[in-house]
Amino acid sequence: MSCGVDVASHRHAVEFADGVHWIGALDPTLRTFDIILSTANGTTYNSYLVRGSEGVAVIDTVKENCSEEFFARLESQVDYSDITVIVLNHLEPDHTGALPELMRRAPQAQLYISQRATSMLKALLKPMGGDFDYTTVMTNDTVSLGNRTLRFLHTPFLHWPDTQCTYLEEEGVLFSGDVFGCHYCDKRLFNDLVGDFRFSFDYYYAHIMRPFKPHVLEALKLIEPLQLRQIAPTHGPILRERPRRYVTHYRELSTSSLTREIGGDQQSLVVFYMSSYGNTARMAEEITAGADDVEGVRVSLYDLEGGETDPFINLIEEADALLFGSPTINGDAVKPVWEILSSLAVVSLKGKIGGAFGSYGWSGEAVRMIEDRMRGLKMHIPFEGVRVKLIPTEEELQECREFGQQIAQRLTGKSPAKAVIDFADL
Ligand code: FEO
Repeated sequence: MSCGVDVASHRHAVEFADGVHWIGALDPTLRTFDIILSTANGTTYNSYLVRGSEGVAVIDTVKENCSEEFFARLESQVDYSDITVIVLNHLEPDHTGALPELMRRAPQAQLYISQRATSMLKALLKPMGGDFDYTTVMTNDTVSLGNRTLRFLHTPFLHWPDTQCTYLEEEGVLFSGDVFGCHYCDKRLFNDLVGDFRFSFDYYYAHIMRPFKPHVLEALKLIEPLQLRQIAPTHGPILRERPRRYVTHYRELSTSSLTREIGGDQQSLVVFYMSSYGNTARMAEEITAGADDVEGVRVSLYDLEGGETDPFINLIEEADALLFGSPTINGDAVKPVWEILSSLAVVSLKGKIGGAFGSYGWSGEAVRMIEDRMRGLKMHIPFEGVRVKLIPTEEELQECREFGQQIAQRLTGKSPAKAVIDFADL
């Protein structure tokens, strides 16, 4: 099968290090990947061949409908009987579509996968009856091809649990899987030859790697010490010119800019609200003022009516705690609140502190609905939200203030004890 190219003219492997060939497939006509990603330049499924004095390794395969091109390039270099090793850095179907057929053609080859890939491999190869052998590897396990050594780096959740990287020691080539990849199809293949793909690189990071920033930073600890001459990802250009700048860029993208701005010793609390008649806004102001009384917390207040989703998502990603205020209209929270709460798939919210508040006229369901959504996003809701019928009284505003203090104190690890109120200050 072929994916958008004339296979007769795409039969050649491309050597980019001694004995190391690109044998992937081009998919220039693809315009949407995995339902959710736009691919204005199409994509590539990069597979690689490493020849050693005592064996040949295939590293990753391609999407099933591109397999004809992959096998043609492979056959231009080796007989199937020469293949001793198949490495799978990641088992998503865009890299394992050709695997069953490759295993049929090279049954002697040993499969190498990460420990976390086992269940996925078994599921993938169910049609083959489960009769296959494989070896699981962890960081610093190696496979010898005679004069070539493949060393594995365990890099889970970039962006699936199974993901790993493979480093060819003698050539300084990192086969990085989806890491450092992008959906950018250009037959010139190399980062110093293709068009300007910076947008695609950052877009790919934002949609694929961004939710896993802590895992990216862990992986970089393994990657940064390597002698890197080239990075060979599974999508997009091979990074042979100044590969380390892509590593540096990943570290920048994965490091909180807020931490750089306010220092690591402060916690960030962001309060968002919508208000119909000013009552929820009044509550938001009191909550903010209460939180602001707590030392070590940077509190920000935003009216959702005056903002756009993308910058708010950046704020949300870097915040340690989030509060959402909404009036209840027809038994529901208002649309701008739902819009932002439904746009958070690209960031990790797990463990962040959340809370809700709002004024209502009849029934006041919005607060509980927002809390439920936050729990669904794996956020922690330590305190029941504040609900006020219509116009908040002084006592209810005080309740809001205490709510803000409690959230802020929870952030700083201080006891959320009731505040002592000086009514003269009210
Ligand atoms: Fe390119 Fe996660 O597969």
